[in-house]
Amino acid sequence: MAVSDEFLQELRARINIESVVSPYVNLKKHGSVLTGLCPFHNEKTPSFTVYPESSSFYCFGCGVGGDVITFVRRIENLDYVEALKSLAQRIGMQMPEDGYDDTLMKRRLRILSANRAAAKFFHEALFAAESKPALDYLLNRGLTIATIKHFGLGFAPDSWSKLCSKLREDGFSFQELVEANLVSRSKKNNNESYYDRFRKRIMVPIIDLRGNVVAFGGRVLDDSKPKYINTSDTLVYKKGRDIFALNFAKNGNEGSLILTEGYMDTIALHQAGFKNAVAGLGTALTREQAQLLSRYAKEVIICYDNDEAGREATAKALNVLGQTDLKLRVLQLRGGKDPDDIIKKHGRERFKNLLDGAANDIEFKILEERQKHDLNTPNGKLDFLKAAANILAELDGAIERDIYASKLSEELSVGKDSIMQQVMENRKKLLNYKRKSRLKGLERKSLGISDKLNPEFGRNVRAVKAEETLISSLMNNPDFYGKICDKISADDFITETNRHIFKVITFRLAENKDIDTNLLSSELNNDEMSKVIRFRLRSNELINTLRECEDCIKVIIEEKNKQKDLNPASLSDEEFLDLFKQKNT
Ligand code: UTP
Ligand code: MN
Repeated sequence: MAVSDEFLQELRARINIESVVSPYVNLKKHGSVLTGLCPFHNEKTPSFTVYPESSSFYCFGCGVGGDVITFVRRIENLDYVEALKSLAQRIGMQMPEDGYDDTLMKRRLRILSANRAAAKFFHEALFAAESKPALDYLLNRGLTIATIKHFGLGFAPDSWSKLCSKLREDGFSFQELVEANLVSRSKKNNNESYYDRFRKRIMVPIIDLRGNVVAFGGRVLDDSKPKYINTSDTLVYKKGRDIFALNFAKNGNEGSLILTEGYMDTIALHQAGFKNAVAGLGTALTREQAQLLSRYAKEVIICYDNDEAGREATAKALNVLGQTDLKLRVLQLRGGKDPDDIIKKHGRERFKNLLDGAANDIEFKILEERQKHDLNTPNGKLDFLKAAANILAELDGAIERDIYASKLSEELSVGKDSIMQQVMENRKKLLNYKRKSRLKGLERKSLGISDKLNPEFGRNVRAVKAEETLISSLMNNPDFYGKICDKISADDFITETNRHIFKVITFRLAENKDIDTNLLSSELNNDEMSKVIRFRLRSNELINTLRECEDCIKVIIEEKNKQKDLNPASLSDEEFLDLFKQKNT
């Protein structure tokens, strides 16, 4: 990737990292830095830090960091060139004409336009005479023409080639259509042929927040299986990342979103006036989706199907969503199997009532427990109370704990004090447990065993420490390079990640180039950039002497030689065990 340093320096000077980050993170000023809740992992207290001065960011919770380009890369899921382009565009800088590879972005754009053309084709096909059964199916389910148009619903004709032929006419290649997952390739007797992937299905376009058609869900018209075929992962779509109908619901939702299980439920809710309904896309709710929701609302009301699977999915979703700062409620669909069904049977008012009465997550968990026990027997009552006390123990607010304990006490005619006693006992255990597992986590962290950014860390603690101190020191004192360059090379490094970072840095230093963070991101991947930021932050703690660098080099070479000797093939079992013992003591 050959964008000039001058271009990158100018970009950095002109772009304000705060304005790039702030649509995603609510930033607060703390002296010369800004902090907020990390958009890359779930947290309740801010450890995400933006450094306007160096135009970089780092999260002390998950260790993710980088320059402004890395931020855009990560948050928008773009590759380097795309992120660079999008930033350059923001500030009206002309990208240099050649010298960079944007094939990936071109392929993405082709997929998006193929999807758009396909959506149009499906939508028009729905209103063709021979598709009457499909249109009737939707109308019979109570959808209006306005709703069908609003969601851009369509129909994939009962044909192996109609879509493919149309899009070929429009100038798309087979390759592009296969990449978009609209067309499949088959190979029989060395004959390649192509056929439409969606046939005789109602087509639901999935539209992202920028209005791109990124995928489709295709539903059968009857009870045959599979009920839905969905677009598999493509260059523009990843299951578990997007949320259906969030493009509509993100605006004017008054801070609250209704999360349903299915496309059809969400569509029915919108038609009934609940414009804040959204749906996951067939998979269990992911952390990515939870985070996405938390960017567009303060509260999520889970409204999954009224069956065993729905209840299980609710418990899981509560878990994932519970790691964000979203307020949660659970709507129980009394009198119907899913939202679509309730509205059809009882009307929108009934759903509105259920919505207003939706239990919060604690109430929901207690309700669930209540159903498991027979409260008419002393044992059943006791078991239920124990379980309920466990749930209340998780509440951080004393007043909340008190309110629920009062309710239980009234309902079961049991003294409130004894309930509270049980709750507080459980709470003590819970806090103890949490403290211990936190300590364990910290221990592991300091040993580097769970260093996700360098999987080799656990096995090479001594070497890694030396490698990282050397890199940090060099970053802070680029002029050391001339004095150490003949003593060590990247090949001496033991761990892959550090070797690559060292190589990129020393390559630049050898050519007398700057090693500013924002100049490195074209050659380092996102995880490596996180490390670079960590090294920079660490360099303040170092003594920063040439002597220190030389010590590190000695250790690296030593460890390297040790590894050579440690080739297990050349050792007897006994020797091997011996070595192992030494390493651990
Ligand atoms: P549902 O079976 O509840 O579908 O699955 P639905 O959208 O509510 O459709 P109707 O009302 O029965 O017609 C919930 C979601 O699970 C995914 C789809 O995203 C669906 O909307 N799903 C379901 C699949 O991906 N594949 C399937 O075969 C079934
Ligand atoms: Mn359903």
